[in-house]
Amino acid sequence: MLQERIPDFSKFVEPDRVRKEVYTDAGVFGREMERIHETVWIYCGHESQVPKAGDYYTVQIGRQPMLMVRGSEGKVHVLYNRCPHRGNMMCGDRHGNTGEFFRCSYHAWTFHHDGKLKNIPMMESGYQGTRYGRDNPECSMKRAARVESYRGFVFASLAKDGPTLKEFLGASLVAFDDMCDRAPEGEVEIVPNCFRVIQHSNWKIFLENQLDALHPSVTHQSTGRAAHEVEKMIEKKTGKAPLSYHMLSAFATVTIDKWDNFQTINYPYGHCVLTGYMGLRPKDPETLAYEKTLIKAYGQKRMEEILGVNIHHVLIYPGLSVQSPLQQLRAVRPLGVDRTLTEIWHFRLKGAPEAIYRRSLAYYNLVNSPATVVNADDLENFWKVHQGLSSDGGDWVSFGRHFGRDIEKDGALESGPGMGTSEAPMRNQMKAWAAYMGNGK
Ligand code: FES
Ligand SMILES: [Fe+2]
Repeated sequence: MLQERIPDFSKFVEPDRVRKEVYTDAGVFGREMERIHETVWIYCGHESQVPKAGDYYTVQIGRQPMLMVRGSEGKVHVLYNRCPHRGNMMCGDRHGNTGEFFRCSYHAWTFHHDGKLKNIPMMESGYQGTRYGRDNPECSMKRAARVESYRGFVFASLAKDGPTLKEFLGASLVAFDDMCDRAPEGEVEIVPNCFRVIQHSNWKIFLENQLDALHPSVTHQSTGRAAHEVEKMIEKKTGKAPLSYHMLSAFATVTIDKWDNFQTINYPYGHCVLTGYMGLRPKDPETLAYEKTLIKAYGQKRMEEILGVNIHHVLIYPGLSVQSPLQQLRAVRPLGVDRTLTEIWHFRLKGAPEAIYRRSLAYYNLVNSPATVVNADDLENFWKVHQGLSSDGGDWVSFGRHFGRDIEKDGALESGPGMGTSEAPMRNQMKAWAAYMGNGK
């Protein structure tokens, strides 16, 4: 039994290092699902994924297959994807429209969009005098304990108690504000569909990499150099290379020492912001046209504020990585101790010129998609890390870079000046992890 072997999870986490079993033990994984993913607020999707009544999207929360569905009254519900009769999965497709109600494919029990039982075939003759029927809540599809959305981003918690979504997100709300504020209409809409990548490594390895400012100029160096060569060639020939090349060449031109100029700000619950804007505010006609639409919507001063937000990345622990200035989002869905699904989504800024969307799409394809070598560079590391941690070559994973130099400010821990490559985000994530996991009780 896990409890016998690991009585106290806090022993697995020290302020500057953690035990390898945190990544490789199936028992630890089971408890993580119960204590973390099936308890805290998890991102389900964006409201624009389900615009019409009956539209649904499946989503994995911890080990639970769930459905996000638009009700006929306009509300978005999150339900367990399970029929209360004999347990059949209600929707086998990844997404679709269920019509005016759900109808189970096994024995035709039907349910309203909010999960409530609508009908059972021959209910009177089959169930009269039994405990089954519309009055028994166990005959309805079970709902997520809590569902809330913020600026169109839908989250669910499978625990009935806990902080509200806003309390949980805290300062990381900036991810959604920054993304939506950049739209002249103040909101974004999803671009269907997403890329899906399954990596053969523990979910935490992915999250730790997201704000690891030390790795890009090493891991992605060859990618950056190759792009830089091509960029120079095009520049020589035509006088100007497309902006998208810069998205890749930056991995070579922003050298390891320059990453120290970035900063991480680490918040409660394991969330973190990596500052350092991507420098995507050139003076080309397309950007200027976009600025005009923002001025029209918000005025000059507010436009400057909006475009001046200095964010590279926001990590919302334990399952979301948001690049708000480029309208990208990656949702992390753990599948097993050594298997993790990431969904890679991007969004349109409502009311912005098409060229600005094209820029976001270029970044999506060049940096975040499974087709790019940038992603492959990281995936190879993730697999190799998991392999190394599964060996007897050592017991600890170290997060000691700039340890002891973090600065406490307004309830957050900031990496010190010129210490952007600090491993503070990993220390912060593991601190939250240990608090969630408890002492074995
Ligand atoms: S399992 Fe769904 S109606 Fe029987
Ligand atoms: Fe990377």
